[in-house]
Amino acid sequence: MKILVLGSGGREHALVWKIAQSPRVSRLWCAPGNAGTDSEQLVANGTSVTNVPIPTDDLDALLAFAREHHPDLTVVGPDNPLALGVVDRFQAAGFPIWGPNKKAAQFESSKAFSQDFMNRHGIPTAASGTFTDPTVAKEFCRKLSGRCAVKADGLALGKGVLLTTSVGAAERAVDEILVRRSFGAAGERLVIQELIEGPEISLHALCDGRTARLFPTSQDHKRALDGDLGLNTGGMGAYSPTPFLDDRQLEEVGRQILDPWLRGCQAEGIDYRGILYPGVILTSQGPKVLEFNARFGDPETQVYLTRLDGDLVELLLASVEGRLDRVELRWRPEASVCVVMASGGYPENYAKGEVIRGLGEITHLPCAQVFHAGTAHRGGEVVTHGGRVLGVTAWGATLSEARNRAYTAVDRIRFEGAHFRRDIGAKGLARG
Ligand code: GLY
Repeated sequence: MKILVLGSGGREHALVWKIAQSPRVSRLWCAPGNAGTDSEQLVANGTSVTNVPIPTDDLDALLAFAREHHPDLTVVGPDNPLALGVVDRFQAAGFPIWGPNKKAAQFESSKAFSQDFMNRHGIPTAASGTFTDPTVAKEFCRKLSGRCAVKADGLALGKGVLLTTSVGAAERAVDEILVRRSFGAAGERLVIQELIEGPEISLHALCDGRTARLFPTSQDHKRALDGDLGLNTGGMGAYSPTPFLDDRQLEEVGRQILDPWLRGCQAEGIDYRGILYPGVILTSQGPKVLEFNARFGDPETQVYLTRLDGDLVELLLASVEGRLDRVELRWRPEASVCVVMASGGYPENYAKGEVIRGLGEITHLPCAQVFHAGTAHRGGEVVTHGGRVLGVTAWGATLSEARNRAYTAVDRIRFEGAHFRRDIGAKGLARG
C-alpha cells in the first residue's frame, strides 16, 4: 500500500513511525513532514519515508500530488485541512482518506456547533451559551460570576480560549474576541462555558460512522511551566494510562459521552470516521465534556501509539471502511510518557535554526523514541524550526519507570534555549 500522511508535528511523526511498521506499507509520504518523518524507514522494504513540501492547507496541491502518485490511503493529522474539507475533496476525486469530513469536523471547527450538539443530545458538559452580541455575552458572564471559559467559535491556532475568574476579566475577554476580533473571523461568535473543576483527561475514540472504540485514558499538560503555571500551549507533555479512571469507570464514562454522541450523529446525518478526542473534566458530579477535537491529540498520539499493539493501518482502514466492530484494539500494559522540549520563549516569540545535539545518543537508550515536531534539516544537521521541537517519549512497566526513562533521554538532548517541564506525569504519580 502507498500512504500519504498530512501534517508536520509530533503527532504526524508518531503516525508515520507507527505506519512505517506495518508490513502492508510499501511507500510512505508525509506532507510537509519534519526532520524526523523522513528519517523513518518502512519495515516492509527498507524504503525511506519521503517528505513532500506541500502545506496542509493547500488542498489543490495535495490533490494534484494524489493524482500523480495515487496513494491508497491518506491520513490527516491536523484540524485545519479537516475544517477546509480535505476529506470531502479527496473522496470526491476517488482517493480513500482517513479523517472526518467537513460536516463532521465541525465538532472542532465550531465550538458553537459542538456545544449546541452536546446540549441537544444530553452529553454531560458545562453550563454554556453562544453569543454574537457583546452586551448579552457579558450578562451571561455576570451570571457565572466571571468564572468562565470564553471561547472564539472557530479555529484560532489553539489560542482562542480565555479562562477568567472575575467579571472584569470575563468582560475584557468578550471584548477581545467579539469587539477587537483578536482571533479574526474565528471570533465572529463566541461560546461561554462555566469554569468547571476537577482533573482534566483526554479521551480518544476511533470511529467509523456507526461504532466508536474508546482508547485508554491519557493526560496532557497544557501550561508552559511546572505546576500548571505560565501560558497555555499546544501541550507540553502527556502520559497514558492515567490513574483517574479504572477500566470499569472508563467504560462508564464512555457510555455517558459516546453513546449519546453516536446517537446524535446518526440522528443528524453526521458520518464521523476518524478520531474523536473529547477533553473531559472529572467533576464531583461526574464527567463533563469541555470540548471535542476531531483529530488525534498532540502529544497524546505519541503516548498512545507507543502503547498500541498491532498494525495501525488495519485500524485506520477499518475506520474508513465502517468495520471497526470487527477489529481488535490491543494495548500494551506498559505506561508511556512524552516530554515536549520546546524553543526558548514558546508559546510566545522564539528563535528558529538552533542546532539540536544528542539525538544520536537516544537510539542507544532502551524503550525510548524521540518524535520530532518543529525540526528541519540544515546541511547535515537537525535544527529547531518551531515552538514545540521534540516529543521525547519512553515507556516502562510503571509510570515511574517510563518517566525516568523519558527524562534520562531529555537530559541527553541539547539546543540553545531548550525548555521543558520537569513534572510530566507527576499528577498521575501523586494519585497512583
Ligand atoms: N493535546 C492538545 C491538543 O492536541 O489539542
